[in-house]
Amino acid sequence: MTSFTVNNNPVHYKMDPNTPLLWALRDASNLTGAKYGCGNGECGACTVMIDGEAVRSCQTTIAAIEGTDVVTIEGLSRERTHPVQLAWIANNVPQCGFCIPGMIMAAAVLLKKNRNPTEDDIKTALTNLCRCGVYPRIIEAVMRAAR
Ligand code: FES
Repeated sequence: MTSFTVNNNPVHYKMDPNTPLLWALRDASNLTGAKYGCGNGECGACTVMIDGEAVRSCQTTIAAIEGTDVVTIEGLSRERTHPVQLAWIANNVPQCGFCIPGMIMAAAVLLKKNRNPTEDDIKTALTNLCRCGVYPRIIEAVMRAAR
C-alpha cells in the first residue's frame, strides 16, 4: 500500500507501486484535472504540486512520493479561487483549455517562490507546452496574478 495526501485528504493506494501518479489520481481518485498529454514528461499537462514543487505526474510513480503532500488543480482553490485562476479568467487565457490545469499549477508554484517574476523568470519556470500557442496571454496572466 502506498500512502500520501491529495488535497489534504489521506489516500492509500493498493495498486502497483510503479503506477504513475497521474493514473492513480485520474483512475482511483477520480481527479481528472491533471491531463494526459505526451506521457513522457515533455508537455506538462499532467503537472501537479508535490511538497510545493511542480511535478510531472506522468513521470512520478506513487512509490516515489510516499508520505508527501500532493495538490492537484482541484485542490488549489478549495477555499477561494486562486489568484492565478482569477488572472487566467481576466486575461481570457484558454483556447482549447487542455494545457490549462498543468499550466496553472506551474504558475502557482512559481509565484509561491517568486512574488515578482520577470518575463524571463516566467519563461524559465513554465516549461509546459500549449498547442494553441497562447503564451503571450499566459505570461501576461502570471504577471497580473503577481500584482
Ligand atoms: Fe506528463 Fe506530458 S503528460 S508531461
